[in-house]
Amino acid sequence: MKPYLSIENLTQRFPDGKGGELTVFENATFGVEKGEFVVILGHSGCGKSTIMNILAGLAEPTSGAVVMDGQEVKGPSLDRGVVFQNYSLLPWLSTLKNVTFGVAARHPEWTKAEVIAHSTKYLAMVGLEGDVIHRKPSQLSGGMRQRVSIARAFANHPKLLLLDEPFGALDALTRGTIQDELLKIWGGTEQTVFMITHDIDEAILLADRILLMTNGPFARVAESVEITIPRPRSRTEIIEHPNYYAIRNHLVQFLGKRSKELSGQPMDSGATNRPAPIRIDKTEPTPDPEDLRPGLRAVVNS
Ligand SMILES: Nc1ncnc2c1ncn2[C@@H]1O[C@H](COP(=O)(O)OP(=O)(O)OP(=O)(O)O)[C@@H](O)[C@H]1O
Ligand SMILES: [Mg+2]
Repeated sequence: MKPYLSIENLTQRFPDGKGGELTVFENATFGVEKGEFVVILGHSGCGKSTIMNILAGLAEPTSGAVVMDGQEVKGPSLDRGVVFQNYSLLPWLSTLKNVTFGVAARHPEWTKAEVIAHSTKYLAMVGLEGDVIHRKPSQLSGGMRQRVSIARAFANHPKLLLLDEPFGALDALTRGTIQDELLKIWGGTEQTVFMITHDIDEAILLADRILLMTNGPFARVAESVEITIPRPRSRTEIIEHPNYYAIRNHLVQFLGKRSKELSGQPMDSGATNRPAPIRIDKTEPTPDPEDLRPGLRAVVNS
């Protein structure tokens, strides 16, 4: 059966500005299950935002398809909420109206008061309360704008939440608080989350699975690392879990070394580029080497 969100042979090429062609990624193929929280990690320029824009229906790939819940993604939809890397807000609307705009579109049956109450609740959740919500985006700090963008996406309860470095402009304290809010919101729903971050610890705290991308050009989603740490997770306790540093080291090694070694090679024509599933679990007994035949799930348990 197909996964809830299915990314099939996705290829993106752009003009390289010198009369040639830049292949960002080629035949990327992976799935995301309903309700799953997937984080993608990779170096700058490997194509993460490009993938996200395609998932959002805001850009078309050179070839390949994205299928969500049996339907091909062809354009934007209220079912998919996006927090952009540059937290684009509508500059002519107040903070509050940037949020109510989408909420009213999603719930045409609600009264104006209901729309405002719902939106205000989500703005408060990200720490924006009082007079500040009547200010225009240009009158807010970068971190505040990013929080408006987060509130706007969360308030719409999209089936798929797409987050492109949503906490990048936030100070560590606010970032922690909003990570907790995100986990609370996500935990109580069937929402599927696809998030980009550069922060390895944030990725381990939040994700069910981390996709690791090699450097571009010809980037590939090379590995899919299952986060074998039970929920609920807390920032202070997670580091004591026996799997934490083993997973963290694996990710650091990938980003420091394998992301370069595996990059820059065109694929054999027609080959599908699927990530290798990786499961790191120090709380499980060491597997019998017989169980590590090729084709079986790779188990790292050193
Ligand atoms: N519209 C475009 N036209 C030409 N090249 C583009 C376009 N959009 C992206 N690129 C190129 O595609 C590559 C991937 O860009 P993308 O923004 O997806 O990277 P990223 O992984 O999100 O990086 P970062 O971590 O810095 O945000 C880059 O080399 C970029 O220059
Ligand atoms: Mg990006």
